[in-house]
Amino acid sequence: MPEPLSYSNAAALDLLPANAAEALRPDLLKARDETLADVDLFNSGGDVPAEKQPLDAGFVELPAKLLATKESGELADLLAAADRFRERVDAFVSLGIGGSYMGLRALQEALGDPLHNEKPASHRDGPKLYYGGQNVDPGVTANLLKHLDDSGVDWGIVVISKSGGTLETALAFRLFREALEQAVGADEAAKRVIPVTGGEGSKLRALAQEKGYADIFPVPEGVGGRFSVLSAVGLVPAAIVGLDVEALLQGAADMTERFRTAEPGDNPVLDYVSTCHLFEKHLSMDVRILSTWGDRLEAVGLWYDQLLAESLGKEQRGALPLTVVNTRDLHSRGQQHQEGKRDKLIHNLYAASPAGANPTIPQSDADQDQLNKYAGKTVFDVLTAAREGTDQAYAEDDRPTADIVLPTIDAYSIGQLLQMLMLATAVEGRLIGINPYGQPGVEAYKKNMNAILSGS
Ligand code: PA5
Repeated sequence: MPEPLSYSNAAALDLLPANAAEALRPDLLKARDETLADVDLFNSGGDVPAEKQPLDAGFVELPAKLLATKESGELADLLAAADRFRERVDAFVSLGIGGSYMGLRALQEALGDPLHNEKPASHRDGPKLYYGGQNVDPGVTANLLKHLDDSGVDWGIVVISKSGGTLETALAFRLFREALEQAVGADEAAKRVIPVTGGEGSKLRALAQEKGYADIFPVPEGVGGRFSVLSAVGLVPAAIVGLDVEALLQGAADMTERFRTAEPGDNPVLDYVSTCHLFEKHLSMDVRILSTWGDRLEAVGLWYDQLLAESLGKEQRGALPLTVVNTRDLHSRGQQHQEGKRDKLIHNLYAASPAGANPTIPQSDADQDQLNKYAGKTVFDVLTAAREGTDQAYAEDDRPTADIVLPTIDAYSIGQLLQMLMLATAVEGRLIGINPYGQPGVEAYKKNMNAILSGS
């Protein structure tokens, strides 16, 4: 049995009024009940009351549902399509923005080889991965198109858009699709494109059907973009680069089960929400720092920044998320976190043991750098000392920290973590009376941009 993720807020609780956590308990349990009732309502297909629309509760049970199709059905099809794609191309561009981009980045940076693209095909698990459409930048787009053309490799495209109409993705897809068709002809290009998109009404789906693309994967109904990392949105490209999709889903399914059944105190979702809410309510700490240790978890943090900001940043409310990577950012933001305004709640996110190699500090004859006193210790020992030393410094100045601890960084623990943070976002929304689903505020810029472009 793989190990569970753990959560601890012991170092922070003393800074809160006595019994604050106990007093919140009934509301917290009510928010869990409501989140689970949302899932039942969604599954029933019944009428959704206006104040609950949109209701994107589909992500909660999605991991278990997908695992049930491992032998036959969507997951089996997805893995088979990823295998075919891996055989056919040696590089691909994943096109998408927001939830159609951040999740894959989180998975790949946490679990993939950091030097994946640098390695020859024989030393890498799957084709090289590039990103496109996640921003609008003429030079970067042109550069990647030229690079693919110059490199002479067989390349393909995974294009991801739930709505199928997002301008950034559609524009990138047109540019990359035309380049691919010019390079290899329309018939071969059709075998090298995998679209992941919503149902009827998606322009991308209509285009894909017209082009005759063989493998088209769905963004399921009731799964919002930023809650879609463990659907085909994240899983298709993750499987192409050789990540362990089943372990990811198992971790997530187990987290959902724990969320449903565990009491506060042993329920990372509820305990995390409780800490965040109490520091905001009692001490006005509404800057929420996710302090990641080591490089691999930074993109998980950026994914969470989007999840929290788009879900709860509504009605002039919602905490401000900020991801830092340590020890790197101890040399940039650390000063402010130690001595700046007392508006920050810091969550450490780290692995209890290193994933993979862990170099040891060697002895040196001359010892000019005077590191011999640390010889024999590992790089992970240094990281751990930095984290413990930072926590101690914060504690001495009454700066609250809590810990999300992964046993190690592997697919099972990342599946648990992503599902924990998605569930926590939904629960927190219900707790504070903000619908966590939908992002009406994102529409304003789109409307204006389209009007400016069409000269109206
Ligand atoms: O969370 C969301 O729904 C958004 O961030 C979307 O993922 C983003 O706007 C991209 O949308 P789409 O996948 O429809 O192109």
